[in-house]
Amino acid sequence: MAHVKNKAKKQKARFVIAANWKMNPETIDAAKALVRSTVRASREAKSVTTIICPPFPYLSIVKPQKNLYLGAQDAYFEERGAFTSAVSPVMLKSVGVTHVIIGHSERRAAGETNDVVAKKVRASLLAGLSVILCIGEDHRDTEGNYLAAIREQLKQSLVFTERAMLAKLLVVYEPVWAIGGREAVKSHDVHQAVIFIRKVLTELYPPEIVKSILILYGGSSNTGNAEDILKNGEVNGLLVGGASLLPEFKEMLRIADSLKK
Ligand code: PGA
Repeated sequence: MAHVKNKAKKQKARFVIAANWKMNPETIDAAKALVRSTVRASREAKSVTTIICPPFPYLSIVKPQKNLYLGAQDAYFEERGAFTSAVSPVMLKSVGVTHVIIGHSERRAAGETNDVVAKKVRASLLAGLSVILCIGEDHRDTEGNYLAAIREQLKQSLVFTERAMLAKLLVVYEPVWAIGGREAVKSHDVHQAVIFIRKVLTELYPPEIVKSILILYGGSSNTGNAEDILKNGEVNGLLVGGASLLPEFKEMLRIADSLKK
């Protein structure tokens, strides 16, 4: 019966489901309605850590609760000063933000370099925010060159992050070609990427610390693939874009919750 005892002792980790609203919805009224439905769904999915990442003007309408956290979609690396339009991690922290997405491919496509990402990651972690660091290849090839791209991006993005700062780091494997489409990466391929990301992380940090870094998947996740990816992709959660704006997000939270019961 020893194995039964062990099983009972082993605490199942919670899934993290982060809603990346991007530049949506268009009005504060629509945002309020979306907050209401997401809060309701997160209350029902008690075992899930839900993070709402709305556009900056809507941050104040999300009231963090027990298992519901507030995330921003970006933060600049300076604390204050003459940086028109920028928002600092310290400012975000002061209005109740606990998480921040850094290095999203849509920011990278707008010109953000690994160097800037690395500075933002460091500044956000130092300010006490949890960083949701996005990495992922632009396209897949059959020779495995995409793995070198992931390694490079991950290493460069963490170049200013020391091991003592890692407790609040989450990494999202978010292949650019899978974002906003109709098809997510197959769970088997997600699993391989997760193993690879952990391997690269152990080239930078001690394995016992790397073990506790959460790795999420992002890219066209929805109710149709969430269970498979969460179960077989060996991820700790999802970064959800399009589907987080739809009623189906509630079902995704329910799926994540049910897998932990
Ligand atoms: P998607 O977006 O779920 O709409 O593909 C994910 C993301 O870009 O974070």
